[in-house]
Amino acid sequence: MAKSGNTSPSLSTYGKNDRQILSTYQTYFGSEPILVKAPGRINLIGDHTDYNEGFVLPAAIDMEIELAVGENHGDLCRLYSLDYEQEVIFNLKDFKPLPSGWANYIMGVVAQFQANELEVRGFNCVFGGNIPIGAGLSSSAALECATALALSQLFGCQIEKVDLIKIAQKAEHTFAGVQCGIMDQFASIMGKAGNAIRLDCRSLEFKHFPLDLQDYEILLCDTQVKHSLADSAYNTRREECDSGIKTISQHYPEVHSLRDVSLAMLEKHKTTLDPLIYQRCKFVIEENQRVLEAGRALEAKDLAAFGALMYKSHTGLSKSYEVSCAELDMLVDATRDLEEVLGSRMMGGGFGGCTINLVEKSQAQVFEEKMKLEFKQAFGRDLTIYRVGIQDGARIL
Ligand code: GLA
Repeated sequence: MAKSGNTSPSLSTYGKNDRQILSTYQTYFGSEPILVKAPGRINLIGDHTDYNEGFVLPAAIDMEIELAVGENHGDLCRLYSLDYEQEVIFNLKDFKPLPSGWANYIMGVVAQFQANELEVRGFNCVFGGNIPIGAGLSSSAALECATALALSQLFGCQIEKVDLIKIAQKAEHTFAGVQCGIMDQFASIMGKAGNAIRLDCRSLEFKHFPLDLQDYEILLCDTQVKHSLADSAYNTRREECDSGIKTISQHYPEVHSLRDVSLAMLEKHKTTLDPLIYQRCKFVIEENQRVLEAGRALEAKDLAAFGALMYKSHTGLSKSYEVSCAELDMLVDATRDLEEVLGSRMMGGGFGGCTINLVEKSQAQVFEEKMKLEFKQAFGRDLTIYRVGIQDGARIL
């Protein structure tokens, strides 16, 4: 189990041979583990709304992390990442976040178990997966959710799904330094094959609905621009929204989040807000409305209306919320004149990662070729495109 540097793992071995996780565990630890899988996610529409207590429309995808765990009857936790070929060992009685890296997601979950006085003893762990790292598909949430589910099973803790989600989210806050909302962890735990999730991030009420895209399918275009949400302006955006709420709630004491603010209220007090803060708040309020509209459009099977909302979402994320980048903008713009595309937008936290595209199935190949060519001409690099299926959430195998 030698360390082999910090290069990003390829998508390599996992898809071909996910038995490797089990066999690696058996070989190194000489015992039988529990196996758990947790998926990444897409988000159809509604970004940067979750931490504003708004609405989102995510779905779990068939790109997953698989984790093998077993008890080792000591105080040490021995973690091995198959993709990075790295080992990290830490002592349950004394550990703190590392400067960076995958181990923080697992350690963060362990710390949450301890903080919630849930049983956790020494364990061994081997994991791997095929969720591209830093592509905005929530590989970190998948690792947190897989860890939370695996430990709860291993140590016999009775934890409700919603509490697993909260543990995983808090792990990200405390050990990865990203003040993320709840969407990614929610989708990774609650996903249902063939269904999207309409989630109210305030009440956590949610509804699965069959994602019937008729003659269309979802394709993701990966810019390969690796975002690091902690280093990016993600936390700053949260602070900007909080600052807006602080001002608006002086006029409306009942306001606790941007969810409570209408466009009319915002406009009325526009002059009391810093122009940049106003711009950020306006985007969030409009994006929330778009999610509700998009849900209705999908129910009515009006994919053209849904696609138009995707484009509007991208414009807002790029121009008003300013979380896009040149590559994402180029990829969305390149689809605008394509008849086979109904909608396209950047997805997730932003600053890199993927666009999500609603593409006519029969033209998917043509779409791929066109996009790859244009991307190469613009940036001199190859574009990676994924066709994703909608999968169940985290589960014990
Ligand atoms: C990241 C965060 C989520 C959410 C999205 C943007 O994926 O982890 O909580 O805020 O960005 O919608």
